[in-house]
Amino acid sequence: MLAMSQHEWGDSEAVIRPTEVPVPEPVFGEVRVEVAAAGVNPVDVYTRRGLAYNSVLSLPFVNGWDVSGTVTEVGYGVARFRPGDRVFGMPRFPHAAGCYAEYVTAPARHLARLPDELSWVEGAALPLAGLTAWQMLVEVAQVSAGQRVLVTAAAGGVGHLAVQIAKARGAHVIGAARSAKHGLLRELGADETVDYTVTDLAGHVREVDVVIQMFGGEQGVANLGCLRPGGILVSAQGAWTPGLHERADERGVRAVSYLVDPDGAGLEALADLVRKGLLRVHVERVFPLAEAAAAHRLSAEGRTTGKIVLLVGA
Ligand SMILES: NC(=O)c1ccc[n+]([C@@H]2O[C@H](COP(=O)([O-])OP(=O)(O)OC[C@H]3O[C@@H](n4cnc5c(N)ncnc54)[C@H](OP(=O)(O)O)[C@@H]3O)[C@@H](O)[C@H]2O)c1
Repeated sequence: MLAMSQHEWGDSEAVIRPTEVPVPEPVFGEVRVEVAAAGVNPVDVYTRRGLAYNSVLSLPFVNGWDVSGTVTEVGYGVARFRPGDRVFGMPRFPHAAGCYAEYVTAPARHLARLPDELSWVEGAALPLAGLTAWQMLVEVAQVSAGQRVLVTAAAGGVGHLAVQIAKARGAHVIGAARSAKHGLLRELGADETVDYTVTDLAGHVREVDVVIQMFGGEQGVANLGCLRPGGILVSAQGAWTPGLHERADERGVRAVSYLVDPDGAGLEALADLVRKGLLRVHVERVFPLAEAAAAHRLSAEGRTTGKIVLLVGA
């Protein structure tokens, strides 16, 4: 089968090359999926460069964690799926999943049935970003109706889903993004919008219960100032936010560094929101699998609205 593989880590996207590799065989508890589409996430760029999860990744490496496709074979003991089922998921993360390929294998519990409402492309765009948003908001922050939630990078892959999930839980949602993206945020249900490039968030957005913090560095610490006493900031880049936990303690607020987890039940929850019309996926751009390098170039610019997806066999 064709896989977009790399034999060295590299700053240049050119390290990703088309390679013929054997079709993977599912072992106990796994299924094989014929890939229809594979989502692209910022972590794909970090791992291509050799900057993340080096302790569990090795060369040659096939990138990609987001997948949608059709089950073609089930391993011993799998009762959840049958050949022909349409599925989506984020298998094995942060261990290699190899979704930039024509076939992948995955533990059955790392997948869920793709709702009829979603195309292959949307199904591949949803898992990693959607699970991150769901787990940060619902499992970690336990967001509830009436709470004030600040979503940073609100028009990005995780952010645009977090806005909708928080809204579906009955929260008052404040979305931070460049002003050109405020129309989209309002369509997604944001109650307030703020342009973080011209407004100091901590000076302007006050007394929130939950901050979904997508980027680290100084802003990751400064945004603790948006919280009410006892509020919680959940950071997707806690490892790149020096002093976060100490400053949270000083201020009497909570800070949690979070890493997304493969989670079939979380995928079912996202699918349920889709079926109820409470969650949609915005896809900015679709590339053919062979143009994975160009997709990485676009993702690395850091301005994505919604998601970038590779079309594989759809
Ligand atoms: N810990 C985890 O488990 C986990 C899971 C998923 C993602 N992440 C991390 O979370 C971050 C966002 O992920 P994503 O998938 O949403 O990325 P993405 O889709 O590439 O996000 C793009 C958005 O980020 C905004 N942005 C870029 N730089 C920014 C900055 N310095 N401050 C505020 N906003 C900024 C841009 O908005 P504007 O154009 O409006 O500026 C753009 O719309 C990435 O670093 C990713 O690696 C972590």
